[in-house]
Amino acid sequence: MKNYILLILVCIALVNCKSESKSNDVAKSTIDKKVDSLLNLMTLEEKIGQMNQYNGFWDVTGPVPSEGDAAKKYEHLRKGWVGSMLNVRGVENVRKVQKVAVEESRLGIPLIIGFDVIHGYETQSPIPIAEAASWDLKAIQKSAQMAAKEAAAAGINWTFAPMVDVSRDARWGRVMEGAGEDVFLGSKIAVARVEGFQGKDLSNEETLSACAKHFAAYGFAESGKDYNTADIGISTLYNTVLPPFKAAKNAGVRTFMNSFNELNGIPATGDKFLQRDILKGEWAFDGFVVSDWGSIMEMMDHGYASDKKHAAALAANAGSDMDMESYAYVNELSGLVKEGIVSEEVINDAARRILKVKFELGLFENPYKYCDEKREKEVIGSKEMHDAALDMAKKSIVLLKNENNLLPLEKSGKKIALIGALASDKNSPLGSWRLAAKDNSAISVLEGMQKYPDNELTYAEGAAVVYGATNFVHEVNVNTKDTSKFKEAIQTAKNADVVVMVLGEVGFQSGEARSSANLGLPGVQQELLEAIYNVNKNIVLVLNNGRPLTITWADNHVPAIVEAWQLGSQAGNAIAEILYGDYNPSGKLPMTFPRSVGQVPIYYNPKNTGRPGPKKEVFWSHYQDESNAPLYPFGHGLSYTTFNYSNLKVSAASNEVKVSVTVTNTGKVVGKEVVQLYIRDIIASVTRPVKELKGFELISLKPSESKEITFTLTEKELGFFNNQGKYIVEPGEFKVFVGGSSVTSLETIFQYQ
Ligand code: GLC
Repeated sequence: MKNYILLILVCIALVNCKSESKSNDVAKSTIDKKVDSLLNLMTLEEKIGQMNQYNGFWDVTGPVPSEGDAAKKYEHLRKGWVGSMLNVRGVENVRKVQKVAVEESRLGIPLIIGFDVIHGYETQSPIPIAEAASWDLKAIQKSAQMAAKEAAAAGINWTFAPMVDVSRDARWGRVMEGAGEDVFLGSKIAVARVEGFQGKDLSNEETLSACAKHFAAYGFAESGKDYNTADIGISTLYNTVLPPFKAAKNAGVRTFMNSFNELNGIPATGDKFLQRDILKGEWAFDGFVVSDWGSIMEMMDHGYASDKKHAAALAANAGSDMDMESYAYVNELSGLVKEGIVSEEVINDAARRILKVKFELGLFENPYKYCDEKREKEVIGSKEMHDAALDMAKKSIVLLKNENNLLPLEKSGKKIALIGALASDKNSPLGSWRLAAKDNSAISVLEGMQKYPDNELTYAEGAAVVYGATNFVHEVNVNTKDTSKFKEAIQTAKNADVVVMVLGEVGFQSGEARSSANLGLPGVQQELLEAIYNVNKNIVLVLNNGRPLTITWADNHVPAIVEAWQLGSQAGNAIAEILYGDYNPSGKLPMTFPRSVGQVPIYYNPKNTGRPGPKKEVFWSHYQDESNAPLYPFGHGLSYTTFNYSNLKVSAASNEVKVSVTVTNTGKVVGKEVVQLYIRDIIASVTRPVKELKGFELISLKPSESKEITFTLTEKELGFFNNQGKYIVEPGEFKVFVGGSSVTSLETIFQYQ
């Protein structure tokens, strides 16, 4: 009933507004008019209420705030002082809180319901860095679309994804959540994910409002320590950090989330330059910005706000529109407006942005449109979801090494030893952002391989990787001394034709608040690997991890290595299909693998410096005790076939450059290849990286088949941002490189006028 009163009031106001609109030359959309007329009905407290987001009554994804209890939250819901809830999931629970907001508050404004649908809801697709390794933008978009469909069936209408933070530092646990180290690949994937989540019509009940996060430079935390200071140059900000966010904005993302870190001395949550000058000013973003969990209050710890009231003023004036779990806006903003410290226009602008997205989602027409019990039963965990998860998982796997073609495995007549705790782990493949996934619901590698019954498969745990609490909030304990199960594993390996070892990290050893100072195999896994190697050298190492690891010993000794990340609900099936050759691996690394942690941050495209090497004398940029080269470069990934690149041609016209290359499948099986194009702007008014990815194409070739691939380079690809933030293109000499990784074989130069 409430809602109809609201709609009548809005229509009446609309009629009034209509008469004014004649004099208003700004052509406002219908939604804008509805928002304005609703705003005119709202009290200051109700507008501030839209800016207040509460966590649900169970899952927490951050430190539990001292205040905040269910009774107060319900009271505020009834007063219309809550604009959004997060971590309320399931049709029944969402309907319950929505009902209070819509039917018990004065204006009945519906809630927007947010959740971390990072790589799936209940059905988990591969972790985002794994999906990025597919370089398959269509598959990535489809994966986000499926996640949206499943989460929307559970009452959710807003996801806190995609995370578009570029990072070059594998010590940072959240590299698992992004698209790796490259701005070009990251920008393309940001678009794919936004379009997947939001679809073409945000009012469709199978889509979610997406959220580009974390704005900004969160991935540049000093020493890879989560939440740490980001202190970067303006050139890195404009050329590396911001472009994926701009791409998301241009793709129509409706919300942004700011970040916990300070950027060059200013906490992002209170950074007017980022949120008002760039995002809402230069980029003209008309959605809303939500703070990250408690980040408004955390400006006190940053030493930027003297108290909660000061923090609320700083955040609101800097353009943070919604307060996630700081309880700052709901408690302080009204007084701040009355004191003139925060203008009512700031409140109106924030509330307007939030209401606009709610109208776009169709929540005013039907606040319960996402609460359909029948759809919830049909969609969640459906075959459609699992089929999509399996497809994405197979495409995300990267073949790092395959000496003597040890892979694919024979499908019959062999004794195969499967070793490693992670091989039977049904939780870790779900990653760390799996709030709504069922525990122990992933297909394990053991289960996947058991579907190939014509080999003799024997499993031995070897070494429990983890014991103790492994849920989201508690620390993960790693087995650093128990080798009691080595003996059994060694015995199993001795008699085997091939040993498949699944080693790496459990799901909660990467992710938020999981930074690591060491990047080797955790616990006693390296000892286990060497012990097995001593009795059987025919090892296939399958990595299950959320970040690049320094597996240098393995690379020097083990004949076959597969990067299988944390592949989600269908992990074991995908890995088994790759190992047995039913799917030919096509993934390419979206992030460089270091040889040692001392090289980090390491990435494929640093600047050349004034002392590049190697040189005979010592005075060049290098380490005394480690190579400059990575273990595996960005863009690296092998196949069960081989590809040859030839016939690189460039034709430079006045405003575009055509680059073509012929790729041939020189092997015996059909294979997919990610053809990559890089440039180097040799001389520029701001130094440019030694390489920049500016194009890629995923192709499939039959044995002996050739295909000519042509890339077009325009100003969009050849320019850069100068230190004034202006995008410029400078004429001059460019190098162009084309190949199957960033260590490309074919290169040539061209002049751009
Ligand atoms: C977390 C994360 C953010 C997430 C939010 C809500 O602390 O930083 O990415 O979306 O809180 O769970």
